[in-house]
Amino acid sequence: MAVYLGQKAPGFIVNTTKGPLDLESYKGKWVILFSHPADFTPVCTTEFMEFARRYEEFKKMNVELIGLSVDSIYSHIQWMKDIREKFGVEIPFPVIADINKDVAREYNLMDEKTGSTVRGVFIIDPNMVVRLMIYYPAETGRNIDEIMRSVKALKMNWNRKLATPVNWQPGGDGIVSAPGTLEEAIKREKNGSKTWYLKYESVE
Ligand code: BEZ
Repeated sequence: MAVYLGQKAPGFIVNTTKGPLDLESYKGKWVILFSHPADFTPVCTTEFMEFARRYEEFKKMNVELIGLSVDSIYSHIQWMKDIREKFGVEIPFPVIADINKDVAREYNLMDEKTGSTVRGVFIIDPNMVVRLMIYYPAETGRNIDEIMRSVKALKMNWNRKLATPVNWQPGGDGIVSAPGTLEEAIKREKNGSKTWYLKYESVE
């Protein structure tokens, strides 16, 4: 089964490093579900430490993080313990041990050639609808700033009903949806808009 943008996020009840987790219990929150190829790999270790460093910032934005790979719970525990001991970083979010690959397959996160998960990111809205998907190759670490910016952009779309233009940053102008009728288009231009199809709106 493929997962599409705008689709209800497939539900799951899973075993994680923080105990059992039912995705449905996160209804009302934003969720970042991210998969990594394998425990004890260098790029993934840097990503986990950065997600951990930004964890409180995500929490303040009503965003929950969930990691996922097909490694066992014991592998996850040993890796988290190692990160704590060697780098002094506590991993505060749950990491799914998807040993049966059920969630990974449901979310198109499997590399069936290697049997590992790919480096994927899903952002799920408070109604449990998939709003954003990003895939990176195994050798390319994620940009957590961009993931943070994407959540902020999605929240702007959600809260203000405004789209966000290219390279939008928090505090920047939004874009009002384009008119759906000729009358509305003409009215918009008469009201001083440079074009009928692109109109910015300040959020200050
Ligand atoms: C890494 O996280 O470093 C990694 C994982 C899988 C393949 C290559 C690199």
